[in-house]
Amino acid sequence: MTVTRSIVRGVGGYLPQRILTNKELAQRVDTTDEWIVQRTGISQRHIAADGEFTSDLAVRAAEKALARAGVSIAGIDLIIVATTTPDMTFPATATLVQKKLGMHHGFALDLQAVCSGFVYAMATADSYLKNGMARRALVIGAETFSRILDWEDRTTCVLFGDGAGAIVLEAVDLADGAADQGVLGSRLRSDGRQWDKLYVDGGVSSTGTIGHVRMQGREVFKHAVGMISDVIEDVLSETGYTSAQLNWFVPHQANLRIINGVGKKMGIPASKVVVTVDRHANTSAASVPLALETAVLDGRIKSGDLVMLEAMGGGFTWGATLIRWTD
Ligand code: UT7
Repeated sequence: MTVTRSIVRGVGGYLPQRILTNKELAQRVDTTDEWIVQRTGISQRHIAADGEFTSDLAVRAAEKALARAGVSIAGIDLIIVATTTPDMTFPATATLVQKKLGMHHGFALDLQAVCSGFVYAMATADSYLKNGMARRALVIGAETFSRILDWEDRTTCVLFGDGAGAIVLEAVDLADGAADQGVLGSRLRSDGRQWDKLYVDGGVSSTGTIGHVRMQGREVFKHAVGMISDVIEDVLSETGYTSAQLNWFVPHQANLRIINGVGKKMGIPASKVVVTVDRHANTSAASVPLALETAVLDGRIKSGDLVMLEAMGGGFTWGATLIRWTD
């Protein structure tokens, strides 16, 4: 008997060149570096240049992931781009990424789950790989969130940034006894009743405009720790692991206080938690793969490690994925 598993082959990330510090932001809106650092842990964010689109960020991250995986684009047959900030209303940004990478086979699609996008995309790619729809996937989270911010609203504009991250996942058939590799389990959740806690006040079918991010921050915060902990517990019990067995916890990078709250609730020591929110703020669907890339490149995450990913965002959407790292 063999079991098909989605194995991680490589990870890549990209942050635009322009850095916007808290101090610079404090010259634009009524805020301070101290407030932002204390309440969120954020020190700076990256902002895409004029003419630099979500697909461009995605391509830069994908190229790094492919190079580290030692896989050419000819070896990929599925691209999923998780994004809330597509280049255009249509076609899917994933098809533009496909074109820019020179891939003319397979299929490509966008996935919209806001900040939970990457975890949703990992679970989706894992399902496609397991059922034979594809053999090697590029899973990308990419955002130019700066384009949907209201730069006069201090309650939101200080929180977000632009960036992209990518993973190469490959379907591998493993003997039953050797199946403890790659994506071990995922749990996705959503609750549309909470849509107005975090949303964009425009859209194709409603206003015909792009709109700006609106958020009841305190409400989101209130729900976050409990919802995230619940899905992590679900994934752990489904896969038969405990939080004590995790080598690394790679959470969505939105707010250091939420990250610490989940870590505490799950009994995960701070030394096992990957934090990059200080450097790039909340990059929505890009935040988890950007944090992953950091911890892989600096040698923390190694082959064989048990890694828990989680995210939560607008909708509400939330989810977690457990991976036995193989990169
Ligand atoms: O992926 C999911 C994405 N979203 C999130 O994860 C966000 C979740 N929420 C949060 O991270 C936090 O709720 C925030 C960081 C957004 C806010 O932190 P908070 O501790 O919940 O603050 P608050 O909203 O309760 O506001 C406290 C005070 C308010 O003033 P008053 O009413 O007490 O006088 C705000 O007006 O801080 C004020 N405030 C600011 N002050 C300086 C709000 N934004 C700012 C700001 N600078 N940028």
